[in-house]
Amino acid sequence: MACRARLMSQLVAVVVAAAALAAAQDQDCDDCLDMEVSLLQRGVSMVGLRAGGAQQSERAATSGLHDSATLEPTVLITGATGGTGRILYRMLKERNVTVRALVRSTSKAKEVLNCDKCDASEGIFVGDVTEEHCLDEAAKGITTLVNLVVARPICKVDSDCYFNHRPTCKGFYHNDCRYPEGGTPEQVNWEGGVNQLRSLIDANGDHPAHVVTLSISGTEIPENNADKLDKGWFAFYMLNFEAYLMATGLPFTIVKSCPLADEPGGERELRVSPRGSNYADIERPVNVRADAATMLMEAVLQPDLAANLRFNMCSRPGPPTTDYADLLRSGRGM
Ligand SMILES: NC(=O)c1ccc[n+]([C@@H]2O[C@H](COP(=O)([O-])OP(=O)(O)OC[C@H]3O[C@@H](n4cnc5c(N)ncnc54)[C@H](OP(=O)(O)O)[C@@H]3O)[C@@H](O)[C@H]2O)c1
Repeated sequence: MACRARLMSQLVAVVVAAAALAAAQDQDCDDCLDMEVSLLQRGVSMVGLRAGGAQQSERAATSGLHDSATLEPTVLITGATGGTGRILYRMLKERNVTVRALVRSTSKAKEVLNCDKCDASEGIFVGDVTEEHCLDEAAKGITTLVNLVVARPICKVDSDCYFNHRPTCKGFYHNDCRYPEGGTPEQVNWEGGVNQLRSLIDANGDHPAHVVTLSISGTEIPENNADKLDKGWFAFYMLNFEAYLMATGLPFTIVKSCPLADEPGGERELRVSPRGSNYADIERPVNVRADAATMLMEAVLQPDLAANLRFNMCSRPGPPTTDYADLLRSGRGM
């Protein structure tokens, strides 16, 4: 009898939880921001339902941080020789943070990261994320991985204009760009992202690292411009990587940026939103790479504020943003 009663009460609890979830899904997202259903955590299948106010969400947000919140950070940047990566690398070095880089070419690393020997003794590791064990060495003992690797097309057009989204650069060149062989969004953004996470987990065993990544905004719009470029489904694969990352159970911060531009940082007003990316009111929706790097640095150095957070970010002319911690708080949607 006692067993049957216990089973009945468990059944009632499951039905109540399912009804609460269904009700929240039916409502506008105003009411369901605090709710998260996690189906897979580090290979353990489980369903966790969290519903509640700000405090509960913040507690939940920092769960899983363990070492990355308490240890001195050791940060690995992948895509460190790219436009944003090199800025973040320099910013962290200037703050005496231990920082490593995964690069494809030591000569490029020498040129843009200012390393000397450009080998493991200086925290520079050579690797390609399309290979399964890409981070086995580089990620050993790190507290934080910043993933800035991305598939880069080769374009016939003026690429400075195109990749910096200059106001004079009109039109979108879907057919003028081609991804190189082995460098499609599927191979780099998706499979390369999965390889990084698997290799990171293998390298760190029971010490989960905080994973920070700069993704793309607009992934809620099917077949958007980024998807159409060389029919590479760039945004689709980014979104899939985001979902994969969130399902690993590793603490994550996903900053979803509007187009990036190489301009001086600290001059624009940044806005974040945990919802979609409607920038219709911004004449030229871009983020300056230096500002994006500052946001990433804040996430790296404040994992307690940034963990388990995914938000859109874009900037507009206005009073320059200085309080990035405040931005992180507003990214949680409270
Ligand atoms: N560009 C934008 O408008 C934009 C907009 C929104 C979000 N984002 C996101 O912002 C982040 C940084 O973008 P970015 O424009 O600054 O980057 P980027 O300049 O295009 O640099 C990309 C980096 O990825 C590396 N990479 C590419 N394939 C690789 C591979 N197979 N293995 C290892 N490394 C590889 C490149 O290495 P090499 O230096 O050797 O080429 C480079 O360092 C990306 O995650 C991107 O999704 C960009």
